[in-house]
Amino acid sequence: MEMVKIFDTTLRDGEQSPGASMTIEEKIKVAKQLEKLRVDIIEAGFAAASPGDFEAINMIAKEVKDSTICSLARAVEGDIKKAAEAIAPAPLKRIHTFIATSPIHMEYKLRMTPDEVIKRAVDAVKYARTFVDDVEFSCEDAGRSEMSFLKEIISAVIEAGAKTINIPDTVGYRFPHEMGEMIKELVDYFPKDITFSVHCHNDLGLATANSLYSVLNGARQVECTINGLGERAGNAALEEIVMAIKVRRDLFDGIDTRINTKEIYPTSRLVASVTGIEPQPNKAIVGRNAFAHESGIHQDGVLKHKQTYEIMSAESIGLDVKDTIVLGKHSGRHAFSKKLEALGFNLSKDELDEAFLKFKKLADKKKEIYDEDIIAINKPAQVDSYDIQDAIDGAELLHRLDRDTSGVLLLGKNRAF
Ligand code: KIV
Ligand code: ZN
Repeated sequence: MEMVKIFDTTLRDGEQSPGASMTIEEKIKVAKQLEKLRVDIIEAGFAAASPGDFEAINMIAKEVKDSTICSLARAVEGDIKKAAEAIAPAPLKRIHTFIATSPIHMEYKLRMTPDEVIKRAVDAVKYARTFVDDVEFSCEDAGRSEMSFLKEIISAVIEAGAKTINIPDTVGYRFPHEMGEMIKELVDYFPKDITFSVHCHNDLGLATANSLYSVLNGARQVECTINGLGERAGNAALEEIVMAIKVRRDLFDGIDTRINTKEIYPTSRLVASVTGIEPQPNKAIVGRNAFAHESGIHQDGVLKHKQTYEIMSAESIGLDVKDTIVLGKHSGRHAFSKKLEALGFNLSKDELDEAFLKFKKLADKKKEIYDEDIIAINKPAQVDSYDIQDAIDGAELLHRLDRDTSGVLLLGKNRAF
């Protein structure tokens, strides 16, 4: 089996999302969870960015044993020295240095000639190698760089001692087939012991697709973040890449990651709670609705055979849901009667018809129907005060509270009004 290394940059690129900053304690918590998830490399921060970043990386380097700890550093001595100091306590450590290689970045941002950029990159890699064996070099904005220049600078940094070459699509510009072609050309051109990595941004919503096409074309490291956090529209989402490789074994034949997928959901929840940034409800893999079925046709299919509408199980990502059926106005009789059975009701056909009509009437007025609503519909005598408007107001309030605290599915929870 060929392994693709998962390089998680939630604590560095992810933290660069506006509003996503984390305290040192929170970063340590996230790093330990990433170790449990079995990511290969944790980019714990950018040591030269601030004393807080330095301290967080240093503490993580002391705590984490099973993942490589990495710090980002610009291709300047001061940054590299700080990175080396910060990661020093880690048993497995890496320095990740970078410089921009696209014409637009070299001319307007760096104001350097291509030759000066190569010299700076080589000096940086050589200096980093005086501290650690494991040095990664990134060609920032590789997605808009010229292939001939990429080959020139990559040859020079390999000669200087870089072992991993990262090809970032920094501004999320490339299309999947273009990304794949670029990686293939580089992988074929350079010695096989060099690991090619990709780092894709999501400006056009293509970060995951670009990363996967790169893997299909020879990339053996993917840089990504939990929940797709990251600069602007974010980075490729770790959970999407890992589950795509797992679910589509037919396409990724003989390729795997060492990720413990059952830790995906707990990690997603932890990152959402420490950053305060919730994944959108329909976010692939970890969104609140990713495993929910509301429409009657889908519910009927899933109740008959799960795989009619599920290509992976909630359990495979560590999401413990007893029931992925969400009752709402699109739900059908099959799901409704199953829910009644689960709640202990045993209705005749006429009673079921009547209850279903009441349920549809309520569902027209209310976004989601909870167990309490179903109970109230069927036992009006015991719930004298039951009123559709009360149900709407009360349930919506509980729904919001639940979402704020855990974000998990509501159905199946035993909650009293
Ligand atoms: O997007 C980017 O180019 C980066 C590099 C520093 C790897 O984050
Ligand atoms: Zn980035």
